[in-house]
Amino acid sequence: MPDLPTKTLTTVQDALLAWFKEESRALPWRTTRDPYAIMVSEVMLQQTQVDRVIPVYLAFLKQFPTFHNLADAPAADVIRAWAGMGYNRRAMNLQRAAAQVTELYEGVLPSDLKALRGLPGVGEYTAAALACFALGQEVAVIDTNVCRVLGRVFYGPEGAPEKELANVAAQALPDGEAWSWNQALMDLGATVCTSRRPTCLLCPVRSDCQAAGAFLATNGAVAESRGPYKTKPEKFEGSSRYYRGRVVDHLRGLAVGESCDLPTLGTVVKPDYISGDQPWLLDLLQGLQRDGLIAMRGEGSIVTVTLPL
Ligand code: ADE
Repeated sequence: MPDLPTKTLTTVQDALLAWFKEESRALPWRTTRDPYAIMVSEVMLQQTQVDRVIPVYLAFLKQFPTFHNLADAPAADVIRAWAGMGYNRRAMNLQRAAAQVTELYEGVLPSDLKALRGLPGVGEYTAAALACFALGQEVAVIDTNVCRVLGRVFYGPEGAPEKELANVAAQALPDGEAWSWNQALMDLGATVCTSRRPTCLLCPVRSDCQAAGAFLATNGAVAESRGPYKTKPEKFEGSSRYYRGRVVDHLRGLAVGESCDLPTLGTVVKPDYISGDQPWLLDLLQGLQRDGLIAMRGEGSIVTVTLPL
């Protein structure tokens, strides 16, 4: 972190924490300290927007209220409960993680980062989020929003050099306030310090922010045209993930026990499907089977497909 007077850091911390007290979003995973519920929320939030997560999260917890319930549930039920979220592999990883917690750790989320990282689907970000939000540890949680906010506040419009980020985040953490601080950074990044159009006039830390001057002078246009935050999204339609999602969506819609043959499935997921596409479809299905998202029975042209049995 650039050498900051302690006073500036304290001012930023106090201002953001005070703002969070008044303006924080009422999100359902913020009113619980149940490690299981928080784990469900964090896995869902990895790749899905808050608005989309909320209803699925609430229904998911009703259906599978504990690590134990989730570990014991039929995989097909878990996949059905994941509808609308995308990246279905996460649902299976979450169930496997729940099984590990029940089998290896007697149903209690392990408290060290290394053990958390060992759970399926838990990367560096999620391990830190669990350590802080579920286990009350004083660690920095760094996602894209946090990275952007810290980078702008302490460095300027272009953000922080990547290799300095962990250090900056650790230094910025106010004593005893990690939970609120991390949540506050996420909220500020999601609502005020947005990637494209930061609304610096509404920002509680603008007077100490290294980027606010430039953004205010150009009405936020600087943020839109440059900075490391802008990546061109890959085309989703036609990607393997797109077709995988369509297969699982179709199978979710079938009655329990009902299966689908290859030509039908091919035509449903790819309207211009022809019999020559069968090797492509089989390859896609084998990937889904490996991930535990579908089951295949039979051989050759009599293969049928269902959600896992
Ligand atoms: N994204 C990831 N974790 C989050 C949280 N706890 N609150 C809001 N957005 C998030």
